[in-house]
Amino acid sequence: MQPTPPFSLSVPSKMTKVVTTLNYLWLSLLLYALNMHVMAFWPGGRSTRFYDFKVQTMRTTKLCNTQDIVTINGMYPGPVVYAQEDDRVIVRLTNESPYNATIHWHGVRQRLSCWSDGPSYITQCPVQPGQTFTYEFTLIQQKGTLFWHAHISWIRGTVHGAIVIYPKTGVPYPFQYPYEEHIIILGEYWLRDLRQLEQAVLASGGGPPPANAFTINGHPGPNYNCSNNDVYKIDVVPGKTYLLRLINAGLNMESFFAIANHKLTIVEADAEYIKPFTTDRVMLGPGQTLNVLVTANQPIGRYSMAMGPYMSARNVPFQNITSIAYFQYLGAMPNSIALPAPLPVFNDNLAVKTVMDGLKSLNPAQIPKRLIKTFSSLLV
Ligand SMILES: *[C@@H]1O[C@H](CO)[C@@H](O)[C@H](O)[C@H]1NC(C)=O
Ligand SMILES: *[C@@H]1O[C@H](CO)[C@@H](O)[C@H](O)[C@H]1NC(C)=O
Ligand SMILES: *[C@@H]1O[C@H](CO)[C@@H](O)[C@H](O)[C@H]1NC(C)=O
Repeated sequence: MQPTPPFSLSVPSKMTKVVTTLNYLWLSLLLYALNMHVMAFWPGGRSTRFYDFKVQTMRTTKLCNTQDIVTINGMYPGPVVYAQEDDRVIVRLTNESPYNATIHWHGVRQRLSCWSDGPSYITQCPVQPGQTFTYEFTLIQQKGTLFWHAHISWIRGTVHGAIVIYPKTGVPYPFQYPYEEHIIILGEYWLRDLRQLEQAVLASGGGPPPANAFTINGHPGPNYNCSNNDVYKIDVVPGKTYLLRLINAGLNMESFFAIANHKLTIVEADAEYIKPFTTDRVMLGPGQTLNVLVTANQPIGRYSMAMGPYMSARNVPFQNITSIAYFQYLGAMPNSIALPAPLPVFNDNLAVKTVMDGLKSLNPAQIPKRLIKTFSSLLV
């Protein structure tokens, strides 16, 4: 007896073959059209900005302790990515460190470029030691200050830097043109390996221990032991107005920032222009950015720029020593005492609410608003 085959093989007739071929033809035409449609909206960018990022460890001494920290190109904070609205940005990341790495472009909308977003194990595998990965994205309709940081383990504590997006050529800022611009990155510094710190925190099930220091552009300032000369300083010309691009690149802590005797006028928040709002201090959570204008309108001298903790939860230990940098007038005595900047107490919720309530979009409000219900209109 012949064994019955487990399944019957039907020989396709000539007719079905023709139908199948037509189906394929139709399908590929459809895919082609779809592809062309997507390509038509693919953000090309006006100019292309190219950056070479090398993940490297660097021996660093702070607070009388020497350790190896992970950096980009041996810089802490890392290199600034400069671009204009609608530019294409290409960053080639080469991992010369012994650790896995990725970079996340915090706040970049990544339209049609989600594979360049950077969170490890979400949109990409970690870039392994010795490997290279190229990030490519267009800053479509984005301008202002954003930042980038590592998005794997806690090495973002030292692997971070600013993204400065200028408006298109010929398009002015919607506020007073500053005499100069400065990037101010608020950070947290640990005297230990950040990957081990993360593992210890995960194993403990508790919160992270306090940072050993807060930093302004990588410098703890004179309030910490063994840090008297590790201070960041901006030299200012009396009467001039400065744009400070504030970034909180801290791992965990929300932070207040203030300058002694000077008002801050917030003109932009998270890369969106806002109605100018003047305040004595601001608060930024990790990942937030604020652009503020400061006018050097005080008597010639040295003024503190201060960063301190905001903590609304109870019984959580945190670093409470203020990090200080100098806002120093030309003509001030080099060793003059810095006037102290009064920061709110760590749990001053009202101070935070006042700042947050002051942030109002520059765009006229259209409420109620029509909802976008189709996907294709989001692509344009
Ligand atoms: C590094 O990344 C690779 C994938 O790219 C992964 O297989 C490996 O486990 C990672 N190594 C560590 C130590 O996390
Ligand atoms: C700074 O050093 C002094 C003297 O050694 C010590 O008492 C103090 O606790 C130290 N402060 C910090 C924040 O480490
Ligand atoms: C600052 O922190 C230290 C150590 O946790 C604590 O003893 C001290 O009371 C704190 N000071 C303030 C003003 O909160």
